Amino acid sequence: MNELELIQEYEKERMKNIPESERQVYHLTPAVGWLNDPNGFCFYNGRYHLYYQYNPFGTNWDVHMRWGAWSSEDLVHWQYEKAAFVPDQSYETGVYSGSAITGKDGKMLVMYTAHYDEKVPADESTPLGKLASPGSVRDEYETQCIASGDGYTFEKSEHNPVIGLDQLPEGSFAGDFRDPKIWLSEDGLYYVIVANRRADNGFGRLLLYRSEDAVTWEFVTTLIENDGSLGRMWECPDMYQLDGKTVIVSSIMALSTCDPHLRNGYTPLAFVGDYDKDTHRFIQKDAERPSPQPVDLGFDFYAPQSMLAPDGRRIMVGWMQAPEAGGNAPERQKWYGMMSVPRELSVKEGHLYQTPVREIRNLYTDSVSEEAHIRGEDVIIAGICGRAADVTVSAEHLERKFEMKFASDGEHYVSLSYCPDCGTLTLDRTRQNRSSSICEIRKVQIGKNDHIRLRVLIDRYSFEIYVNDGAQVLSGTIYELPQEAEGISFSCVSADVKVEKHGMGTIWSAGTNIV
Ligand code: FRU
Repeated sequence: MNELELIQEYEKERMKNIPESERQVYHLTPAVGWLNDPNGFCFYNGRYHLYYQYNPFGTNWDVHMRWGAWSSEDLVHWQYEKAAFVPDQSYETGVYSGSAITGKDGKMLVMYTAHYDEKVPADESTPLGKLASPGSVRDEYETQCIASGDGYTFEKSEHNPVIGLDQLPEGSFAGDFRDPKIWLSEDGLYYVIVANRRADNGFGRLLLYRSEDAVTWEFVTTLIENDGSLGRMWECPDMYQLDGKTVIVSSIMALSTCDPHLRNGYTPLAFVGDYDKDTHRFIQKDAERPSPQPVDLGFDFYAPQSMLAPDGRRIMVGWMQAPEAGGNAPERQKWYGMMSVPRELSVKEGHLYQTPVREIRNLYTDSVSEEAHIRGEDVIIAGICGRAADVTVSAEHLERKFEMKFASDGEHYVSLSYCPDCGTLTLDRTRQNRSSSICEIRKVQIGKNDHIRLRVLIDRYSFEIYVNDGAQVLSGTIYELPQEAEGISFSCVSADVKVEKHGMGTIWSAGTNIV
């Protein structure tokens, strides 16, 4: 048995020990163990495919990353597939993040980062001599590789790595060169955007390469770079055209900011601008320096990746976890890490909007719609509750603070409150019963108004909050909040509310096990 087959056997056996009742109802979780970034999100040969950074052997990240796999017909009903990639070549000790498209030959074309760490040799032979620039000695570096296949089994190219260290622009740090996002352009060429870090100051930058055949690549330009005001290294780049604009997204490491419109820490940012195809320049009008907007202002969202659906929709999925909370899996947790629901993206007046993919309605089990006048504390509306639910609240004529509690048993809950006079939305999960010290309160400026619209996707271990039709999103995990806590209540001096609640059914059409 080779390494890939061993892992496939292992995950098949171990996932039998995780009953569906211990998983999310409608969010993707790893077959077993640890999950981080979404990888290779694409529509290929009539099915959606989504892969993930995967360590089946523990609820922690580890350097030997592999790719786990799922597939789906409609983006909401999923099936576990066998693990797709493990580090099994002399040039890699970890298979890091990457992307997938339909290649010119009709096969699925995957491009990923081969992480190589000499301290953790994959086998006896060392590829260092072949890869490192002459005269330099490195023990840790990253290169870009390709593989092709049918979505389930793949063959790595004999030409790997296809973008080596000798193709890095001058002054690059070879230890951080990763996460290729590939696309096939109208001009018939493959393009790929890859994250890298400058050696001198450690700041991230996003590089563009192009190729006829995905094997021989040519460096085109640095599309955008950190001037030092936006964290350190940048990871997981994405780039696409949407509603007449060009959007570049990257996940920022270690952002320290006092800007009230951003959040600090590890966080994805979106840059909305224009791309000149002839000069390959990305321009943000009226901005002297890269001017970003946050992709998600909650606690747990990182490394999102998008794909183009056959009907033209741009759909994004993200890892619902703060990387900083990576070492904090609760005791006895058999899996750790999850994906957001796929989100439809749009750009209006230069702003990126997100809404849950419309197919989510295929999961609705029961629906309740109510109108009520709220006056007082913790008002409950008949039929509005649930721990696996899609709840939309339109609240109007607000007099002072409006608060919604969900996943509540009275003692434990998540609280979301909006102050119409100061325009602040406060998300508070202090009462989530977590046994480790992680971020529990966020305050977001959304503007002063006497109304607000909140769509809250609640699941057993998470929530996603879409504010004012997706102008802002706040996601978070609630791993230890008791499962019986399913109450929803509202508080306000006076408010008129319309509430729509849909119960959510499972995403596992064929049971959870790998077949
Ligand atoms: C982001 C990331 C990527 C890398 C992967 C490794 O979370 O650090 O940059 O490819 O995770 O698991």
